[in-house]
Amino acid sequence: MAVLGVFDSGLGGLTVVREIARCLPQEQVLYFGDTARCPYGARSPEEVRDFALQLVEFLSRRGAELVIMACNTSTAMALQTARGRCPIPILGVIAPGVEAALEKTRNGRLAVIATEATVRSGGYRRAVQKLSPQASVMEQACPRFVPLVENGITSGPEAERVAAAYLQAINDSESDTLILGCTHYPLLEGVIGHHLRPGIKLVDPSQRVVQMVRDMLSRGQVADDRMPSYDGYQFFTSGDPASFRSFAKTVCGVDARDVMAVSLAELEDLRA
Ligand code: DGL
Repeated sequence: MAVLGVFDSGLGGLTVVREIARCLPQEQVLYFGDTARCPYGARSPEEVRDFALQLVEFLSRRGAELVIMACNTSTAMALQTARGRCPIPILGVIAPGVEAALEKTRNGRLAVIATEATVRSGGYRRAVQKLSPQASVMEQACPRFVPLVENGITSGPEAERVAAAYLQAINDSESDTLILGCTHYPLLEGVIGHHLRPGIKLVDPSQRVVQMVRDMLSRGQVADDRMPSYDGYQFFTSGDPASFRSFAKTVCGVDARDVMAVSLAELEDLRA
């Protein structure tokens, strides 16, 4: 059994945890949701990098043998630095999402929806350029999505209105594949799918990331038909454990029994 560290600015990374529980049921997970400092998407690159390095350090000190940055914004700002500083393997979510999208597209016209910080970083453009220079990617920042999800709003008139506005330009483009470039967005898949032009395929990078972890561990048994079990998983949050637990259950279907609060002072003391 391997100990997998996973983190996000908040609750969105639970979409990756859910995928791990489904596909790699024998591995153990330590998850950190930095709810008190969420959203990262409107923060400066320096701030996001500092926070991400603290969380990598926190998880590796707790015994993580591999860390997944289940946060596109952190991946864009901190993946390279974290890899240079930390001896354990660290996976991001941007390159895996692009790889999966390139396999699905027929015309090489990709689109990505992400936080403002991820779009500003150019991380998706660089990854597409590197993996397939003849492909293109149009990017749309969706700053209202993360606050909606963190407030438990994943459907209803407000979410529908916001999704319709954000997806307009993508629907008007020739894109045939849309990457959910923020780990909160799979929780809005219903409303996103509802407003997306038919024929545009959706890509959730978490599936490819978990496949990569499985290949790295090279012994995971895919157990698609098994009920995910969250036994032995440990969850940490800089926010309120009771709200975390309830959100995890009701919005993500993740049974987070063991949730521990961690103060920002403790995180700020960690230096990678
Ligand atoms: N879920 C994160 C991402 O994938 C961060 C969202 C945020 O904190 O703004 O980018």
